[in-house]
Amino acid sequence: MSSDYTIEQLIPKEITKLAYQTIQQGKASFSLGHQTLSNRLTSIFAPSQDKKTKPLSQETIEKLTKKREQLLEIDWEDANQGIYPISLLFNEEWVDFLRYYPAVWLDMPHIWQKVEKKQYHKFSSDIEKQGYPNYYLQNFHHQTNGYLSDMSANLYDLQVEILFSGTANAMRRRILAPLKQGLSNFSNLPPQSIKVLDVACGSGYTLKLIRAANPKVSLFGTDLSPAYLRKANQLLSEIPGELPQLLQANGEELPYQDNYFHGVTSVFLFHELPPQVRQNVIEECFRVVKPGGVFILCDSMQISDSPDLETMMENFPAIFHEPYYKSYIKDDLVERFKLAGFENIETQQHFVSKYLIGYKPL
Ligand SMILES: C[S@@+](CC[C@H](N)C(=O)[O-])C[C@H]1O[C@@H](n2cnc3c(N)ncnc32)[C@H](O)[C@@H]1O
Repeated sequence: MSSDYTIEQLIPKEITKLAYQTIQQGKASFSLGHQTLSNRLTSIFAPSQDKKTKPLSQETIEKLTKKREQLLEIDWEDANQGIYPISLLFNEEWVDFLRYYPAVWLDMPHIWQKVEKKQYHKFSSDIEKQGYPNYYLQNFHHQTNGYLSDMSANLYDLQVEILFSGTANAMRRRILAPLKQGLSNFSNLPPQSIKVLDVACGSGYTLKLIRAANPKVSLFGTDLSPAYLRKANQLLSEIPGELPQLLQANGEELPYQDNYFHGVTSVFLFHELPPQVRQNVIEECFRVVKPGGVFILCDSMQISDSPDLETMMENFPAIFHEPYYKSYIKDDLVERFKLAGFENIETQQHFVSKYLIGYKPL
């Protein structure tokens, strides 16, 4: 049998959907098991952290379960509609995850030590710290060496998957429909001449998803971390087709000329930026996107999106070192988009993420 057959041609859709739901259920159970054990150990070895969080009500847990189910349903529907291939729902980095899972546990004693000693800016002596903005030189999520080591880059996606009960990519995929919609403004151009930039691309997952949904467009990614860019290069170089161009750059000063990109995206960056830097990055994205082009931001939900989930949002920076999250959840991002010059601004919410979609006026 030829390997050119797609999942859609080989297996009835009902069975594929069931397989997707079953795998997602498995990921959720795994994440819950991991979190339960890790919380128990943390309450023994880093008791001060335990005191900072409030328990979630049964109502909140039920609401979150429902929102998660809705996310998975939309994820399936968008694939079913052909916004991206159904195979993308199964295209996870399992080998990488298994390889680095033991290291997540081995890193935990370092995390407890940092939590108990309130060390938020600790870096090993071999880590180069020159040239980075101060707000960046922190152990975000209590991560050893912040974003600046290869081990941090290896563990990041696994940790995010556990945090989001296996839905990190499903949430990232919610940028794909608005991106396709935005790029359709340029459907008179050959796909190869369409340029899309992912700001703070991290280890490259968002670019991988954008590539699957848009096989021919030219992709670009920037991030401040050389270690995360190395990891992204590894991931993306395995995908057939044109290699995305990756550059080390601050989102506040993108090394591209004005009006260069047809689409710009940024995922899970803004909650890690101080308020003025959020504005600077949005304005920089406005500068580099073409008139008629689209900017799509995906990040954590905010209090105004779900006031009833405020306790959960307040617990997050109490568990993970997230110095700008408290100000982020109260920030008015629509106003920031308007201030930068974006129009036709739309917001969406999926599970624990929110999305802002804005267009540069023609
Ligand atoms: C939470 S991670 C998100 C990574 C990726 N977008 C994802 O979907 O997982 C935040 C990323 O933003 C990068 N970052 C933080 N501040 C930045 C800045 N000012 N300019 C560029 N990248 C930045 C970090 O190096 C890190 O890779």
